[in-house]
Amino acid sequence: MSEIILEVENLRKYFPIKTGFKQVRYLKAVDNVSFTLARGETLGVIGESGSGKTTLGKTVIRLYKPTGGKILFNGEDIAPLPRKALKKYRKKMQIVYQDPYSSLNPRMRIRDIIGRPMKIHGLASTREEITSRVKQLLEEVGLPSEVMHRFPHELSGGQRQRIAIARALATEPELIVLDEPTSALDVSIQAQILNLLKEIQRKRNTAYIFISHDIAVVSYMSDRIAVMYMGVFVETGPTREVIGEPMHPYTKMLISVVPEPDPTKKIRVTEDLGEPQLPIDPPPICRFHDRCKYKLPVCDEKAPPKIPIGESGRTVACWLYGKGKTVERN
Ligand SMILES: Nc1ncnc2c1ncn2[C@@H]1O[C@H](COP(=O)(O)OP(=O)(O)OP(=O)(O)O)[C@@H](O)[C@H]1O
Ligand SMILES: [Mg+2]
Repeated sequence: MSEIILEVENLRKYFPIKTGFKQVRYLKAVDNVSFTLARGETLGVIGESGSGKTTLGKTVIRLYKPTGGKILFNGEDIAPLPRKALKKYRKKMQIVYQDPYSSLNPRMRIRDIIGRPMKIHGLASTREEITSRVKQLLEEVGLPSEVMHRFPHELSGGQRQRIAIARALATEPELIVLDEPTSALDVSIQAQILNLLKEIQRKRNTAYIFISHDIAVVSYMSDRIAVMYMGVFVETGPTREVIGEPMHPYTKMLISVVPEPDPTKKIRVTEDLGEPQLPIDPPPICRFHDRCKYKLPVCDEKAPPKIPIGESGRTVACWLYGKGKTVERN
């Protein structure tokens, strides 16, 4: 059994919404999400824009304070910790964003961009030590050491994303949230970055939460997949099972695509997906009920439980699979 690094239980992140009236309403961006992640494993999170992927990633690594739930990182619950107490965990959990240009300080040289987190976390102190670590990291991400004297704007998009990865690695993290790390890049560069991330994971045994709405990319990167819809995981399981045989009506809709033989073309969506509503004080029923074409009467009454399917850890939150199966509420 591989070593579990992260156990997330009923994680919630609600954003208060100003309504003009006294009453406060909440946008439930992440609502009762649970999952585990092992060392060296990748959990892919897919879902449409606004489904809560980034909020989930940021809350798990405590860039956001959760509204509720547990985040057991190496067995310790970091969910309730105040800002000060988080410092020792920060270096263990990093994030790489979609757009490396806006995430890198344009006025800093690459050496300082990568060296700064080492300094902050006391991982290297002398100039020589920092420079030599920066060189090693540049090599690890496939860049020549001369790059350290340059500024971000003097690099290409792909090179900048390599710098963002090197900066994340500077603190020797055990978990990295990769939030659409290749979405802003040319298709030809995307594959190189994905392979670099795989190589790093193989060498360092880092756990990844890989966020994307590109199903092909997520499938390539992930051991397991979670499908997110309006703040909840509607389906989770091994990548091959979820992609090969989607069960939740939403997953089916997302994956009802015809693979294009030409990899430079985007996959073609064959169904009209319609528009999701915002999860503002959603009723306690399935969040997909108004878009679902398989809806049962019970779907308008109560939220579906997470239904375990088979022995692989797969779950589907849908009443269609509820009959005659062990039903567990969470
Ligand atoms: N700081 C915030 N304050 C209020 N609402 C927020 C905040 N951040 C996100 N939201 C809302 O939470 C929901 C989830 O947003 P989030 O950015 O997590 O989605 P996403 O799945 O990452 O989308 P995308 O694919 O577009 O990046 C959205 O409805 C968004 O408007
Ligand atoms: Mg996002």
